[in-house]
Amino acid sequence: MKPTNHWDIVPINLFILRANFLPMLVIHEIRDLKALIAAQKADGKSIGFVPTMGALHRGHLSLVQEAGRQSDFVVVSIFVNPTQFNDPKDLEKYPRTLQADLELLEHSPCCVVFAPTVETMYPEPDTRRFNFGQLEQVMEGQFRPGHFNGVAQVVSKFLEIVAPDKAFFGQKDFQQLVIVKAMVKQLTLPVEIIACPIIREASGLAMSSRNERLSPEQRENAAVIYKTLREASNNAKNFSVEELKTQVVEKLNANPYLQTEYFEIVNDTDLGSVEQWTEPVNKVACVAVFCGEVRLIDNIVIA
Ligand code: PAJ
Repeated sequence: MKPTNHWDIVPINLFILRANFLPMLVIHEIRDLKALIAAQKADGKSIGFVPTMGALHRGHLSLVQEAGRQSDFVVVSIFVNPTQFNDPKDLEKYPRTLQADLELLEHSPCCVVFAPTVETMYPEPDTRRFNFGQLEQVMEGQFRPGHFNGVAQVVSKFLEIVAPDKAFFGQKDFQQLVIVKAMVKQLTLPVEIIACPIIREASGLAMSSRNERLSPEQRENAAVIYKTLREASNNAKNFSVEELKTQVVEKLNANPYLQTEYFEIVNDTDLGSVEQWTEPVNKVACVAVFCGEVRLIDNIVIA
């Protein structure tokens, strides 16, 4: 019989957080993580995986909660992936708050945190080029060239290392979710991708690690993004698709704190532009808005 208690299978060089009988573990090395997961699997445990870039907030934690509900053993990765940042300044400014993240995760169903270094994940440059066709050419793909290739590189590596039964992604990054599902199909990975709803601040602003970079006034005004999306969703059918798009952009840009990068209404399958409300597709309105230097994205389903 393989052990279930972490203590019996603790790799040598990991950092134990809590000295109770089921400590949350923090692992930095791939071989240690693989050994731990192999032992859990041999014991019949299902593995749930939540990839993150840290600076955790309630949005991330909702994914961890869902992973805990749907799996026996929950792995959370914290890794700021350099290959998905098309802007080096954005990578540099990305918040890194490992200690605070670990404290939050201690009070969650997370069993092990995987926090590798860049050298561990990329011992040599990843030269793989994915092809997601239209999925990577529109919206985020258009304005952040190379971004989704980097996401696919790192997520495919994580899915190979963790080999989870289920991996949990937020609908906040709707296009990322669609692309990860496409990648899993392309690579025929044996994992189920679970979509989790967007968690918002009381103001309606979608939670994001980037919100921390907003000043109090910017944060207040950034709430206009979701308010505008909601109004658009409620009133959609009173206007043509084109009229609605123009109105939303005008409304957002009328706020001196906000500058819209794109607003698109797409179907949730191939992310093609919706032209008519009568099209028999699920419609999602997606937006990217600059609030000062901070780029925020959000989306809403149009019923
Ligand atoms: P990150 O931005 O840290 O987000 C990790 C996961 O949390 C993603 O699946 C994201 O959609 C989800 N998430 C973020 N904010 C959320 C919110 N307000 N409500 C619900 N879910 C939310 O997305 C990434 O990291 C990276 O691209 C990653 C997949 C880890 C690859 O590097």
